[in-house]
Amino acid sequence: MVGYRSGRPQNTTMVRLTERGLKPPERYPVAPEHPLILGIETSCDDTACAVIDGAGRVLASVVSSQLAAHRPYGGVVPEIASREHLKNWPAVSAEALRVAGIELPDVDAVAATRGPGLVGSLLVGLSLGRGIARGLEVPFHGVHHIEGHLVSPFLDAELGAASVAPERFHGLVISGGHTSLLDVRDGQVSSMVETRDDAMGEVFDKVGKRLGLDYPQGPRVDELAEEGEPDPRPFSVARAKGELFFSFSGLKTQALRAIEQLERDGVLSGASAHGNGEDLPAATRDLLAGFRRTAVDQILDRLERSHSARPIDLLAVSGGVAANRLLRRELVSWADRSGVDLRLVPLIYSGDNAAMIAFAALERQRHGFVGDSEIAPASRLPFDKLPPEHAVLERNADRHQETP
Ligand code: KG4
Ligand code: ZN
Repeated sequence: MVGYRSGRPQNTTMVRLTERGLKPPERYPVAPEHPLILGIETSCDDTACAVIDGAGRVLASVVSSQLAAHRPYGGVVPEIASREHLKNWPAVSAEALRVAGIELPDVDAVAATRGPGLVGSLLVGLSLGRGIARGLEVPFHGVHHIEGHLVSPFLDAELGAASVAPERFHGLVISGGHTSLLDVRDGQVSSMVETRDDAMGEVFDKVGKRLGLDYPQGPRVDELAEEGEPDPRPFSVARAKGELFFSFSGLKTQALRAIEQLERDGVLSGASAHGNGEDLPAATRDLLAGFRRTAVDQILDRLERSHSARPIDLLAVSGGVAANRLLRRELVSWADRSGVDLRLVPLIYSGDNAAMIAFAALERQRHGFVGDSEIAPASRLPFDKLPPEHAVLERNADRHQETP
């Protein structure tokens, strides 16, 4: 049986800081025609399909999780993932069309994740997307997964029009595979700060796995940390002198050593299969609270240093780890202190979903890209040339005339 997160998102967590004198978010114009974009996301272990309209309103966002299939293995098994995508797609897409109240021929453009991700999984979504686009004779966009996360904070959680991303903004994407501070200008993306080793979400998962928690461990580590008093002793923020970078592998090692110490002290049992971790002793919660505090402090440190070197006007924060409770609280106070316009991704769109993929395609169209001329799945895909060179730019001539 397929489990869905679908339909109508209930509450918004998007932070609108207009009361601090910052400009209110500009909404997408509700055009007389509402082109509909079908989004598909199958880069990892979620099968997702969404429909958005030309104002970036999410008419449907269905995510079918494969958690149950992968849980016995403690992580994602690529072969199982592609098979599950194929199995789940008919029900997921039918549900998305039903919730949106449309039929497939109503769709005006199709977007699917092109990479990075598991090649077999990407291939399923890409082939479906290209096939549908070809059949309907509508444009197709092969979207970079991070391009989707990057624009997701501009989606509205309450089914309203999306807000228009300014021509220049900064994006902080924190997920299981990425920890990146990005500079976006006129739809082109360049990287400012990258992780040199593990991604932040990956480290949360590995530390949780060492404690025997069920996959995915990140959200549960966050919950357990919420119940602890941060133990700062074993942890220190990775230093970065000169060129800025993120680094989380040292923090991971510190956490793993601290867990070993608890086991040696007899506080924690080594025979670990703790499920949701309810039985873990208070000292473990304190340890996780200290670990989480240090990870978040590193993000704040790099943001502060980037901001002092070159001021950040608007920061859009996204990716699975953007659901982290402490991170959200701390980012709000940092942005308050620093006069930064903060857009936190609505919780419903922080994890992988297809609404963000469809919306990235809409953003491409706003920048004049009409579709991709060449598409192949890519397990690795640099994003410093986004949208890719083979995306077709229709308005090139007009744009050059606009700028004197
Ligand atoms: O963006 P996402 O859904 O998939 C990737 O593109 O990687 O991010 C998933 C990652 C996982 O590592 C998961 O453990 C982590 O985000 N994550 C969290 C939280 N919720 C999800 N990490 C820390 N705290 C959370 N609340
Ligand atoms: Zn993701």
